[in-house]
Amino acid sequence: MNIRRQPPSILVFDSGIGGLSVYNEIHKKMPNLHYIYAFDNEMFPYGDKSTEFLINRVNSVIEAITKSYSIGLAVIACNTASTICLPSLRSKFSFPIVGVVPAIKPASQITQNKSIGLLATKATIQRTYTTNLINEFAKNCTVNLLGLSELALIAENKLQGIPVDMQQLRDLLQPWLSLPTVPDTIVLGCTHYPFIKEELQIIFPQATFIDSGNAIAFRVHNLLTEQFDANKIIRSNIDNIVLSTIYNQYVEKLVPKLVNYNLNKYQTIKIVSV
Ligand code: DGL
Repeated sequence: MNIRRQPPSILVFDSGIGGLSVYNEIHKKMPNLHYIYAFDNEMFPYGDKSTEFLINRVNSVIEAITKSYSIGLAVIACNTASTICLPSLRSKFSFPIVGVVPAIKPASQITQNKSIGLLATKATIQRTYTTNLINEFAKNCTVNLLGLSELALIAENKLQGIPVDMQQLRDLLQPWLSLPTVPDTIVLGCTHYPFIKEELQIIFPQATFIDSGNAIAFRVHNLLTEQFDANKIIRSNIDNIVLSTIYNQYVEKLVPKLVNYNLNKYQTIKIVSV
């Protein structure tokens, strides 16, 4: 990989703003890397899209990005995409690709009452990948699955300044509130959900919430130190970039807020349908 003129960038990708929760953790750990945060708002939400569509779409978006930018490592900061797209992406691109999948294993290690909740998109809940994770790591626990299509949008709205409707949230989570053993450990299996953790904690005051952000930051750090000479890659004073697949009023309002995330330059990336 040519890292002489410009160090390769770290790409963090999601359907929307959810991946920012993962980007945040990576950026905290390695603030001097060059980042591209890309989101496919044209096709948001991914949670209601078919498997085949998502595989094609995510491959097309990542391919379009690689035509304009030199990528050193990509993080698919979306459980819905990672649980289905990683094999095809890894066979197509030569840079390391890190996926984000529900943190079932750590949850099974900390639960006291052996009741775990997995909160995710409907698609993630239905994936064989998720079933396999549960069978492998949480056999001795009851894993309560709740697939919700509304939560990612609630999180997007919160970032835009629209307050969370607590009654709506309580109604959506009602299935768990009436369980004989309410989960004491809740896996946030969608990268959007850390943005509404505060509200979720009000509804489940006793629960511990687990997301994958920190573990992903460690993984990225390890991979980068294995792959690259850290001194060559780790220095950058180039603006970090935000890409979205369409520009609209939502993006117009969002972009100034992203400066707080050290994402300073915006571009639209057009995706040709496959
Ligand atoms: N942030 C994505 C995830 O982690 C999903 C949101 C969506 O439905 O697009 O699954």
